[in-house]
Formats: sequence, C-alpha cells, structure tokens
Amino acid sequence: MKLSRRGWLKNAGIACFGATAGGMATSLCSASTTPSAGAPPLPWPYVKLDPDAVAAAAYEMHYKAGCCYAVSGSIIGELARKIGAPYTSWPTALMTYGGAGVAGVGSLCGGLNAAAMVTFMVAGSSEKEKQGKASEITRDIFNWYAQTPLPSFRPAQPKFENVQIVSRTNLCHISVTKWCKASKCKISSKEREERCACLSGSVAKHTVELLNAHLVGEFKPAHPLSVETQSCRKCHDKGSVLENARAQQDCGVCHFTNSSHPKL
Ligand code: HEC
Ligand code: HEC
Repeated sequence: MKLSRRGWLKNAGIACFGATAGGMATSLCSASTTPSAGAPPLPWPYVKLDPDAVAAAAYEMHYKAGCCYAVSGSIIGELARKIGAPYTSWPTALMTYGGAGVAGVGSLCGGLNAAAMVTFMVAGSSEKEKQGKASEITRDIFNWYAQTPLPSFRPAQPKFENVQIVSRTNLCHISVTKWCKASKCKISSKEREERCACLSGSVAKHTVELLNAHLVGEFKPAHPLSVETQSCRKCHDKGSVLENARAQQDCGVCHFTNSSHPKL
C-alpha cells in the first residue's frame, strides 16, 4: 500500500519512531495513534501569573542559557509549578535554539521568539491561528518591543545600570547593535549580557501581562504600527496594488520615509 506523507504521519504517530529499529511500523502501531498522542490539544491551560516574579526568573535564567530559554522557561516554569502536566514534561532546554537571534544568527530576538511560542501554546487553538488571537497578541508584543524604550525591567541587584533604546525592530542584530552604539559597550561585554538579561525580564513580564489580560477576555492591542508604516503597507503589502513586500513591522528602520520615497 502506498501511503502519502500525511497518511504515514497520521497512521504511524510519534510513538512509532521510538519502536524497534528496522521493525515494520505498521505491525507495531495501532492506526488510532496520532502524532499528538499524549499531549493535550491547544490551547494548553493558563492561570494568572505574577509578572514581576516571572520577570525576575527570566533575568536569572538568562544567565544560564540565554534569551529564548529564559523567556520560555520562566513562564512555563511558573505554569508547571501551578498547573503541573503538561508543562512538567516540557523540555526547557529545547528553547536554547532561539538564543541570540536563532543559534547566534542575529535574526529574530530570542525573547520574542519564546514569547510567540508561549502565546501560541496558551492562546492558540487551531491550524488557522494565523488569523487568530495568538497572532494578534504576538504582533502586539513585537510592536511593543520595537516601540518602547527597553530594557524596562530592573532587577533587585543590577550588575550594571542600563541604557535604554527604542530598537524599532524585532531583529536581534539591529536591537543589540543599536544598544552597543548607544552604550559604547562591546557585543561581548558583561554590560551587554546584563542588558539582554534585563530585556528577557522585560519581554517575559510584558508577555505575562498580556496573557493575564487575555485570560479574562480583556486583551486589546495597544501598539499599532505607525501611521507611516501603515501607509507603506497600503501600497506594498497584501491586498495592495503592488503586493511586493510582506512586513507587519516598521519599514523605516531599513528603508526611507514617505517624504524621501523615490519619486513615483
Ligand atoms: C502611494 C503608494 C506608495 C506608498 C504610500 C509607498 N510606496 Fe513604495 N513604491 C510605490 C511604487 C509605485 C514604487 C515603484 C514600484 C516599481 O517600480 O516596481 C515603490 C517603490 C518602493 C521601493 C523600491 C524602490 C527603490 O528605489 O528602492 C521601496 C523599497 C519602497 N517603495 C518602500 C516604501 C516604503 C518604506 C514606504 C513607506 C514609507 C512606501 N514605499 C510607501 C508605491 C508606494
Ligand atoms: C529589516 C529590514 C527591512 C524591513 C523592516 C523592511 N524591509 Fe523592505 N527590504 C529590505 C531589504 C534588505 C530588501 C531588499 C532590497 C534589495 O534587494 O535591493 C527589501 C525590499 C523591499 C522592496 C522591494 C524593493 C525593490 O527594489 O523592488 C519593497 C517594496 C520593500 N522592501 C518594502 C518594504 C515595506 C513596505 C516595509 C514595511 C512594511 C519593509 N519593506 C520593511 C529590508 C527591510
């Protein structure tokens, strides 16, 4: 029998991949086993968390394994303490993948990457989540990050006092480099590490605040894109005449303003 990839996944299920090497999957697995067997469907349960406690935990965890690990681990750790399963089986170390903009690449800020993951975990409900609440909350977190002087979190005992910047971006490279320029500190300095630890605290705290609001049906987006960027998108993004640019983020950080736009 020829199985499509989809059919194979559906019939085999993850349980099979751990079965006897070389064994025939079909003889080892029941057809009812699905890839998500054992894990409850989304959204996973959420209870109100203390944003300050989570922020303090994220700050500490950052020094252990970086931003993405810290923001996800601090929130999931609290949920595991309060709720137990399924959070107790979450492999915390997995999230080190997102550190320093995904494996050190300087792409998406790891704190934001983790915030998005956790948001989809507790506020996402289906494969259509691109249009759903989790996406809306995630975009609001990203815009807040780009538009707010950060880091806003200050630990009980800071190792250094921090310079705040408005990054205008969700990218690790731009955010960190702008901060280095403003603080005159090197990328490899202890001050930069402290800054990103405080940033992890800030992102974890803000994420929990929004998820707490969502829990009681009170989440409202508070950080829309600038009027300028919305005008760019009206000509360039989905549903526009040109449809040649995909970006729900500040265009001006990389491009020009409307007044310096090439003559049309
Ligand atoms: C009124 C519609 C309109 C608005 C508003 C607009 N653009 Fe454009 N843009 C155009 C057109 C038309 C072109 C030329 C397209 C072509 O020749 O393919 C263009 C070209 C561009 C290009 C490529 C041209 C180059 O020389 O680099 C970029 C990048 C760009 N726009 C970014 C932006 C940004 C950023 C904004 C907001 C600040 C913006 N646009 C606002 C219509 C618009
Ligand atoms: C993180 C940086 C960054 C952001 C943010 C960004 N862009 Fe770009 N954009 C680029 C780069 C880099 C290119 C490729 C330029 C090239 O090939 O010359 C590009 C290409 C484009 C082009 C095609 C240019 C051409 O010559 O045809 C358009 C149009 C464009 N962007 C519009 C936008 C709009 C509108 C936004 C905001 C909604 C935006 N961009 C946000 C970096 C960015």
